[in-house]
Amino acid sequence: MHKIIIDSDPGVDDAVAIFLALASPEIELVGITTVAGNVGLDRVHNNAKRLLALVKRPDIPLVKGCSHPIMTKCSNHTDVHGEDGLAGIPLPESNYPEHSGHAVDFIIDTVMSNPGEITLCPIAPLTNIAIAMIKEPRLADNIKDIVLMGGAAFTQGNVTPAAEFNFYVDPHAAHIVFENAHHVTMLGLDVTTKADIRSGLCNSLEKQGHIAQITAAMSRKYAEFDPFLHDPCVIAYLIQPEIFSSVEGNIYIECGSKTLFGHSLVTNSTKNKVTKPKCTIVTDVDSSKLMPLIAERIGTLG
Ligand code: BDR
Ligand code: CA
Repeated sequence: MHKIIIDSDPGVDDAVAIFLALASPEIELVGITTVAGNVGLDRVHNNAKRLLALVKRPDIPLVKGCSHPIMTKCSNHTDVHGEDGLAGIPLPESNYPEHSGHAVDFIIDTVMSNPGEITLCPIAPLTNIAIAMIKEPRLADNIKDIVLMGGAAFTQGNVTPAAEFNFYVDPHAAHIVFENAHHVTMLGLDVTTKADIRSGLCNSLEKQGHIAQITAAMSRKYAEFDPFLHDPCVIAYLIQPEIFSSVEGNIYIECGSKTLFGHSLVTNSTKNKVTKPKCTIVTDVDSSKLMPLIAERIGTLG
């Protein structure tokens, strides 16, 4: 059983990742934290509230986090996720009670009270995680692992040729996280571009219940602009690591260069045999197993 916190900016593929986690007995979702990314903070937070209301999970703590990156202006991805962040698919408002704390404190408190047990699953810019590491220097010693969606190790970016969105939006945060973490498992565009919605996912979802049908509607619209379900790969990796391939290496985040801003540079890997790497860089997945896994699990949500 993986006890996880999802740090998220919903976001259509974030929504699918959250649903996949909630549908999976291998995962105990101990909380969701939100951060500005695909759209502004209030909107991503409200989207997360509506997603939890849709699946009737008021028991999952949902905590609002940082409103902008550490050193740069907010960017967004409305071109892909739509103005509302959920592809314009109407979802009822939530009347679940609000969590009063801040995501950074929730992450610190949860990790420190469960030492060595919590896996952080950031699927958004890394602002909350970086600030938590700065506020509580012992955090890194007490995290089980960080399994994140971000970067592009051996392939091109999706915002610039060099950079993937989550790292491009807050590269300074990504730099802090990779410098401080004892271990990071990185699922970047190398692997997430194998999670291709056009492989029949929506047809499978449409044959199932209400939540699967909403997931299909969001995914169809989103796929007009980005055909890849990046964020659910993080959850699928925890559930079925055997369908993924990876190499070991280290990652350096470029924050200085204008052209390479947000680039995730592999400074070494098993390819050139440098010892003691601290990142598992996931490079591939068997998509013939991944996409049915996503469809089947989300189908169980009703
Ligand atoms: C990442 O950017 C966001 O738009 C997605 O939600 C995902 O986390 C992919 O580059
Ligand atoms: Ca995301």
